Amino acid sequence: MTVLYTDIGELVTNDPAAGDGTPLGVLHDAAVVVDGATIVWAGPAAHAPAADHRVSWDGDAAVPGFVDSHAHLVFAGERSAEFAARASGRPYTAGGIRTTVAATRAAGEDRLVAGVARLTQEMLAAGITTLECKSGYGLTVDDERRALEIAGRFTPETTYLGAHVVPAEYAERRDDYVDLVRGPMLDACAPHARWVDVFCERGAFDADESRAVLEAGAARGLGVRLHAGQLEQGDGVRLAVELDAASVDHCTFLSDADVEALAASRTVATLLPGVEFSTRTPWADGRRLLDAGATVALATDCNPGSSFTTSTGFCVALAVRHMGLSPAEALHAVTAGGAAALRRTDVGAVVPGLRADLVRLAAPSYVHLAYRPGVPLVSEVVAAGVRYAVGQRPVCAGP
Ligand code: NIG
Ligand code: FE
Repeated sequence: MTVLYTDIGELVTNDPAAGDGTPLGVLHDAAVVVDGATIVWAGPAAHAPAADHRVSWDGDAAVPGFVDSHAHLVFAGERSAEFAARASGRPYTAGGIRTTVAATRAAGEDRLVAGVARLTQEMLAAGITTLECKSGYGLTVDDERRALEIAGRFTPETTYLGAHVVPAEYAERRDDYVDLVRGPMLDACAPHARWVDVFCERGAFDADESRAVLEAGAARGLGVRLHAGQLEQGDGVRLAVELDAASVDHCTFLSDADVEALAASRTVATLLPGVEFSTRTPWADGRRLLDAGATVALATDCNPGSSFTTSTGFCVALAVRHMGLSPAEALHAVTAGGAAALRRTDVGAVVPGLRADLVRLAAPSYVHLAYRPGVPLVSEVVAAGVRYAVGQRPVCAGP
């Protein structure tokens, strides 16, 4: 069955050849034809081929489905008091991760599944049609495997993060924990994961420990990604580049050598503005990375500690206001950038042959994502060809 989405006032394709010559490849008065789960045509509405069904988007803007390449969704527990304490001046130390670990270990599977279901529904309503999901709040062999099994019910982009922090019971023997993570825990988790990740930061894992875990994961066929530069400069970014990681995430504190290494590599720098917002830390300098020639992605980093948001629009607005990105660069970063960070070539653009992931905005231009911060502009989502209505019309219940 083919569907023609037409009367699109402004269509972002991310195909420079198809549109106005900019990286966003913007078309006006455009249409898209979808066959099942696949885009089969995109171009000027006046030239659109016939289709079985016709859907008018009434002059609204449409953009590619958002690709959220960094999230920690499998958890239990509640940390709003920690957020409130930070808002009163207490610094973020990542120490709260252990609070979530205790609650997650104690939670039944149904509760964890329900939590991921709720957050992934929020993400879909926010326009996210591809998402990555990490383990990292279990930190035992069984709890990490359980987290990845649950994540795998919602996305193929599952990431093994046994090296999130050293759990309290290993505090005096961290080498044993690293051996567990790159040994028996990896054996249990690798069948359920596509990626391996490490939190490479003071207070978590140093560069040697990170390398040991990432190389073990890579030897098991997992793709490499890394958390680095969140709290201070370190060796993580260059380690990520050396290991040809798909992405290095946070990048808040970078040396000139880090920026040069990223620009000369195919490792994506993924910025997480929700973290800087929530932890009151300095903003990552996205402008510096883009000017140097690095590929930049933006993601929510949805997690209960440092960034409890599922809103891509919010992240776009923050990146435009605080990270030096233009609205066009920020949109590119949450679509094509996210796809690059997951090494996906089937999503992130509106091009024939790619998966039919589209977001309709209740706005005439994608610029409104930053221009109207905090407003839920996503009114319809097409995910792998399936159409979801999102916007809610207020109902007058009075006389
Ligand atoms: O990406 N940086 C490490 N991990 C998460 C924070 C997790 C937490 O505080 O629970 C992050 O920001
Ligand atoms: Fe993270």
